[in-house]
Amino acid sequence: METKRFTTNKEDLAEAAAIIRNGGIVAFPTETVYGLGANALDPEAVKKVYDAKGRPGDNPMIVHIARASDIGQMTPMLSPKIVTLIENFWPGPLTLVLKKKEGIPKRTTGGLDTVAVRMPDDPAALEIISRAGCPVAAPSANLSGRPSPTRAEHVLADLDGKIDAVVMGSECRVGIESTVLDMTGDVPVILRPGIVTADNIEAALGVKVEYDPHLKQNPKDETADFKPRSPGMKYRHYAPKADMLVVEGQRDDVKREIERLKKLNEGMGNKVGTILFEEKAFIEAAHDLFAELRELDKEGVDMILAGALSDKDGVGFAVMNRMLKSAGYNIVKV
Ligand code: TXA
Ligand code: MG
Repeated sequence: METKRFTTNKEDLAEAAAIIRNGGIVAFPTETVYGLGANALDPEAVKKVYDAKGRPGDNPMIVHIARASDIGQMTPMLSPKIVTLIENFWPGPLTLVLKKKEGIPKRTTGGLDTVAVRMPDDPAALEIISRAGCPVAAPSANLSGRPSPTRAEHVLADLDGKIDAVVMGSECRVGIESTVLDMTGDVPVILRPGIVTADNIEAALGVKVEYDPHLKQNPKDETADFKPRSPGMKYRHYAPKADMLVVEGQRDDVKREIERLKKLNEGMGNKVGTILFEEKAFIEAAHDLFAELRELDKEGVDMILAGALSDKDGVGFAVMNRMLKSAGYNIVKV
């Protein structure tokens, strides 16, 4: 199929919305990463998204809405806590996992009785969703397993010819996907860390937030019981084509080790790329990580050496969650 290119002007967005309304699939920018959108209420359309991405069918999708009040289509009732979260963080990069209303297709929620909902903070995304006139299921617009796309060119690199259209917007502001917060139990639980941190949520709610325990575990650790509640977390993710190693430790030691490994590997004829963010520049790291992984792939490196960020809870922790998955949890401590 030919993949149409749209700009972010009104007429183009109206056409993009019409494609979604009529059962097609369209990639569009959000503030986090580009999403690949389909009518969330149309199982056939949602199936097209799974097929284009090569995504396993039990991995549920986030449903995107353009007005907070549209959440009523997804879930039966809003607790005071959920209302507070919506008031504080929407539109924005916080996804809420809620009890699902009947009528949302199984295909959209991967057969779960919960549904993940968010209202993105991007004018083009909001325009498309509101014009489509339906909730829009949208996973990240990459081939399953590849780094999430933060630029339109990344979407085309993975999906050109496989989807109906791409809205060629600007670079995504955040660069990593939304925080996924499970609000179905007594305690809010972070299933996927993001730029909205546990501290931010605790400050808004005045209650303690927990992490899904697997987020603090290394799945390669055989003593750990690795059963994540967010199905997306069990697949290998964000993987560059090159082998990747994360080096963890004091900053100077990390720099030295990366230099040492680079030299030796280059001496053997390998092309080596490095990812080393400024210390404590977690927001920038979030913005750049996926783009850098794709850039190094394009350069055809054989090996990527990345310096770990030291952060146990905040935005740096969210970046490390992606970096470690990219590296298949291949990590050395110095
Ligand atoms: O920032 C984002 O969230 C981007 C943009 C496009 O909005 N979307 C995104 O979607 O990252 P996706 O499909 O790549 O990731 C959705 C994550 C997966 O880890 C999935 O398992 C989890 O959310 N998820 C979705 N529905 C869920 C549910 N009902 N219960 C638990 N986890 C859920
Ligand atoms: Mg994804």
